[in-house]
Amino acid sequence: MSMICVLHGVNLHLLGTREPDIYGGTSLEELNQKLIIMGRENQLDVECRQTNHEGEMVDWITGLTPADFLILNPGAWTHTSYALFDAIKGVNVPALEVHLSNIYAREGFRAHSVVAGACVGQISGLGTDSYLLALAYAVEFQKYRQPKGDENTEIK
Ligand code: DQA
Repeated sequence: MSMICVLHGVNLHLLGTREPDIYGGTSLEELNQKLIIMGRENQLDVECRQTNHEGEMVDWITGLTPADFLILNPGAWTHTSYALFDAIKGVNVPALEVHLSNIYAREGFRAHSVVAGACVGQISGLGTDSYLLALAYAVEFQKYRQPKGDENTEIK
């Protein structure tokens, strides 16, 4: 079974109670459960983790195996962390950046993502649906991706 890794960055453990007008009322646990169930329905093993420690996030990303697919919400590290950019670039794992809020419609500092250039794409502003759509993409990616001849880069 393919492994889809969903990594939530700094402060996302507060989901559900943190600025609900911006981030919504769904807790991180509820969101993770939805993703795990959706994965199971599509024969995908979804593993969700959250950390407030940047180095730990780097360790998780660089510890992924090439067959994985990464869905990543770096939280505020989105706007600051060249270390996460390098970590994503350093592994042969497609990463999709997600945000609950529309980072382009908020404070100016949020409108720039330093990790975007290391990711295959970005989904921003759809609340928890940003994650569900990212997972839907991972499902399609797995089904329809053309093999490149390098078995290690294919999701199986
Ligand atoms: C966020 C947007 C970031 O700017 C913010 O620092 C977060 C959450 C989002 O999901 O909308 O912590 O990544």
